[in-house]
Amino acid sequence: MSTEPKLNAIPRDALKNIKPYEPGKPQEELKRELGIGKSIKLASNENPLGPSRKAASAIRKAIKRLNRYPDPNCFKLKKALSNRLKVREDSILISNGSDEIIVLMLRAFVNEGDEVIVGFPTFLIFEIQSIAQGARVIKVPLRDFRYDVCGMLSSITPKTRVIFLANPDNPTGTYVNKYELDNFIKSVPENIIVYLDEAYFEFAQAEDFPDSLGYLKERSNIIITRTFSKIYGLAGLRVGYGISSPEVIDCLNKVREPFNVNSLAQAGAFAALKDKRYVERTRQLIREEKQFLYEEFNSLALKYIPSATNFILVDTGFDGVLIFKELLKQGVIIRDMKPYKLDTFIRVTVGTKQENKKFIRVFKEVLNKLRSS
Ligand SMILES: Cc1ncc(COP(=O)(O)O)c(C=O)c1O
Repeated sequence: MSTEPKLNAIPRDALKNIKPYEPGKPQEELKRELGIGKSIKLASNENPLGPSRKAASAIRKAIKRLNRYPDPNCFKLKKALSNRLKVREDSILISNGSDEIIVLMLRAFVNEGDEVIVGFPTFLIFEIQSIAQGARVIKVPLRDFRYDVCGMLSSITPKTRVIFLANPDNPTGTYVNKYELDNFIKSVPENIIVYLDEAYFEFAQAEDFPDSLGYLKERSNIIITRTFSKIYGLAGLRVGYGISSPEVIDCLNKVREPFNVNSLAQAGAFAALKDKRYVERTRQLIREEKQFLYEEFNSLALKYIPSATNFILVDTGFDGVLIFKELLKQGVIIRDMKPYKLDTFIRVTVGTKQENKKFIRVFKEVLNKLRSS
C-alpha cells in the first residue's frame, strides 16, 4: 500500500476560508458517474446553439499557426472591440474568460485586510477571489432578489477598495436599472473601484437597462467586464474583456500573464464578434424559450424571478439538492442553489426548444412525485 507524502509546505492563511467554487456538472462526468450518455446541460448559462460556424471556421484556420505564441496584445480583437464599442484601444484588456479580470483587478488594487463589498447572493467568484487576495468581504443581502445599492453605499468605510456588481446578476437574473446605477456611480468615492460584471448584458433588453460605457467618460474608477462565453457561444475557448480608464487598464496589464489569451481564442472571438446573425438568433431563442418556461412554471404554480438573462431562478418549494439529484438521474443537469443559501431554489439555463421540453417533462414528474408523497 502506498502512502501519499505529507504536505510540509504551508498554504496562505486566507485559503482556510475558501470553499472552492462548484461549477455546473459536466456531461462527461455524468456519463462516468451514472453511465448516462445522453444528457442535457442547463447548468452553466451557456449558449445552447453550439458555436457560431464562422467562429469554428476561423479557429480551424488558426490551428496552422499553433507552433507560434499568440499575440500578447490581442491586437486584432482589441481593435475590433474598440471600433464596435467606440472606446480607445488602451481602455480595453482582453482576458482568459472575464473571470480572469476579477483576479487581475484584485491583485492590482487590493491589499491584505482591505474591504470589498459584494451583494449576497451573487456570483460567488467575487467572494472567493477576494478572500484569496486576503480581503475582508462585506456581504450586503439582496432585497427582494435585487441588489440593495443603498445598502452597499452605506457599507462603504475608509478601508473599502472595491464594490462588485453583476448586472444583470447571477443567480437571480435581475438588474440594477439606469436610474439606480446613475445615482450609485455618482455616490461612490472615486478612490474605490466599481466592478461592473456584464457577462449577460447582451440579453438585457429593457429600456431602463443602463448604458454603462457612458460612465467611463466621467469616471476613471469603473471597470466593465463582458464575455464571449454567453451570447457569443464560446465558453470553452475562455475569452472575455474589460473596459476601463487607460490608467486602470495599465495596472491590470502589469499583473497579467503575457500570453493570457491563446491564439485559437483570439481568432474565434474575432469571428464571433462579426457574426451578428448568430447573436440575433440566440437572442430570439432565449426570448421565446424563456416565455415558454415562464408559462410552464406558472401552470405549476411555482414562483420564479423574471430574468434579464438566459437563465431563470425558480423556487421549487422542496429541497433544491433533492430536485437536482432526481433530475440528474434522468439526464437533466441544472443547478441547486444551496451554495447561495437559497435552499428550495434551482437555477435553470434556457436551452433549445427540445431541451426545455425535456426539462419540463422530467421536472413535472419529479415535482408531482414529491407533491403527492
Ligand atoms: C456573473 C458572471 N460573471 C462572469 C462569469 C464568467 O464568465 P467567463 O466565462 O467570461 O469567465 C459568469 C459565468 O457564469 C457569470 O455568471
